[in-house]
Amino acid sequence: MAKQRVLTGITTTGTPHLGNYVGAIRPSIAASRSDSVESFFFLADYHALIKAQDPELVRRSSKEIAATWLALGLDTDRALFYRQSDIPEITQLTWVLCCNAAKGLMNRAHAYKAAVQANEEAGEDPDFAVTMGLFSYPVLMAADILMFNAQRIPVGRDQIQHVEMARDIGQRFNHNFAEVFVLPEAEVSDDVAVLQGLDGRKMSKSYNNTIPLFSGEKQLRKAINKIKTNLLEPGEPKDPDDSTVFQIWAAFADDAETARMRAEFENGIAWGEAKKQLFELINAEIGEARERYNELMDDPAHIESVLRKGAERAREYSVPLMAKVREAVGIGAIC
Ligand code: TRP
Repeated sequence: MAKQRVLTGITTTGTPHLGNYVGAIRPSIAASRSDSVESFFFLADYHALIKAQDPELVRRSSKEIAATWLALGLDTDRALFYRQSDIPEITQLTWVLCCNAAKGLMNRAHAYKAAVQANEEAGEDPDFAVTMGLFSYPVLMAADILMFNAQRIPVGRDQIQHVEMARDIGQRFNHNFAEVFVLPEAEVSDDVAVLQGLDGRKMSKSYNNTIPLFSGEKQLRKAINKIKTNLLEPGEPKDPDDSTVFQIWAAFADDAETARMRAEFENGIAWGEAKKQLFELINAEIGEARERYNELMDDPAHIESVLRKGAERAREYSVPLMAKVREAVGIGAIC
């Protein structure tokens, strides 16, 4: 059977946190070990420019995210691991796809609609501070996906619409010109946890409630101590299903350890004790990777060389694909 192509991008606007690890990085690296898939993972640094106007932040985030995937054991001889901006064909394809994407379709994109709604509520012009980057974001993402003829796109729920748009745009191109693109499907896994953050909402850099993945041991302990709990005293039974501490525990522990902690909650474990055990559990899982992460962060030239090699491999796909696209639409060489 032909291998399935799995592709996903990570926007380079922040420092990886436990939610990214549990929800995306850990399952992606695990899946990339399967012989039946060919994985494409990339730093979506052009996407970062939509949200971030701070070059140092984007640069630092690219380095941190790359170091994180490598530290956690991504095998870059197997998986293709590259930086979006190293693949010039992606922006070239973006333009061609722009010419095949209905503006009306883009008007319906959640991110754009949310910006317009916020403006309207604030009494501003509907398009106040909306850039063409934000508006065309789904087209750039379609180019990322269609470029590599990826079939499966593991994403969070908020990204399903974008994958469907990529499908739409690809379909329209195929219909107008030639069968160039494979049509992708979003893959949202039910067995992967959406981690809660310090305040109990979804852990997300936009809520400022994250626990960084590779801060030092002390900082990890401190962050865990900040997880919101209630005022129940030691000895009073606690509801595990209403607790962020327990929810994060379950994302790291095996079934037996999860059952044990559930019983401890019911027996009234003290919050301090539960948090101490949570720290130990997480630290045991990521401690070695943290050391590798720190070594990698001190050796950016190594990270850079891995990314360049990844880009070289990725361009073995993108250069011929883009040649096909040019040929299909009638640009480039005339004979
Ligand atoms: N937009 C995605 C996000 O913010 C990141 C992304 C960019 C992506 N290009 C992609 C995800 C292609 C999957 C496939 O999460």
